[in-house]
Amino acid sequence: MDHAPDRDAAVAARLRQAGSVFAEEEAASLVEGSTTAEHLESLVLARMAGQPLEHLVGHVVFHGLRVPVGPGIFVPRQRTAHLVDCALGLVRETSTVLDLCCGCGAIGYALSRAAECEIDVWATDLDEVSVGYASRLLPAGRVVRGDLFGGLPSTLRFDLIVANAPYVPTARVALMPPEARDHEPRAALDGGDDGLAVHRRMAGAAGRWMTSTGRFVTEIGEPQIVAATSLYRSAGFDVTISRDDEIDATALIAWRRAGR
Ligand SMILES: C[S@@+](CC[C@H](N)C(=O)[O-])C[C@H]1O[C@@H](n2cnc3c(N)ncnc32)[C@H](O)[C@@H]1O
Repeated sequence: MDHAPDRDAAVAARLRQAGSVFAEEEAASLVEGSTTAEHLESLVLARMAGQPLEHLVGHVVFHGLRVPVGPGIFVPRQRTAHLVDCALGLVRETSTVLDLCCGCGAIGYALSRAAECEIDVWATDLDEVSVGYASRLLPAGRVVRGDLFGGLPSTLRFDLIVANAPYVPTARVALMPPEARDHEPRAALDGGDDGLAVHRRMAGAAGRWMTSTGRFVTEIGEPQIVAATSLYRSAGFDVTISRDDEIDATALIAWRRAGR
């Protein structure tokens, strides 16, 4: 719908009253994302009830790109742009890249759009709905469903693996904002007791899917730096950490130790 100052202000006031911190911006997005007055009203009520704005308007802007999302899947976080930027520094001409635990495919898509050379991006996720969204962004046949590497052709080897996998400790899931806690799949958030259960499995399996000079880039929480570094080292990798304090983003970059 087109903007109308009085109606937009009334929507913003209702959202603010329901607790929205960015009420004007959210009102503008809901107006733009609606087709009729009835549709707008249903979106406003859903937002006031706590549904993620991005699920309602059907997209998130990530790394400067409009990425489709919808109910039932994880909404890419702005901090994950740091993972993309770290990975971009590692892509080479003809790199074969895997977006592991891809969700809606935002990371792989951002890499394919921002890389200055031709890269071949694959993506995989356990969740059927996520795979459906990622398939809209990446070339046909490149998005597969499976447990970690389970659905991929066994002959593939990757120059770069990027993974924003679940890393929230189980006890902290209940403390997340309701948008995440109540509207994103538990399997997208819950990383087990210390948040590193999926990382343990990725570290154990990634080496055999990487070329000898391949790199593995993954997001973790800042409090996990010591434990995650030790975990990847124990699995045969050398590790470096890249931190962006401004957006509270931590990327762990790993490569196979010589001789492994
Ligand atoms: C934190 S979300 C991140 C999604 C996406 N990488 C992003 O940044 O927007 C984690 C994703 O991992 C997927 N996932 C969790 N366990 C998995 C597993 N064992 N194998 C494959 N995918 C898994 C979830 O379905 C979810 O889409």
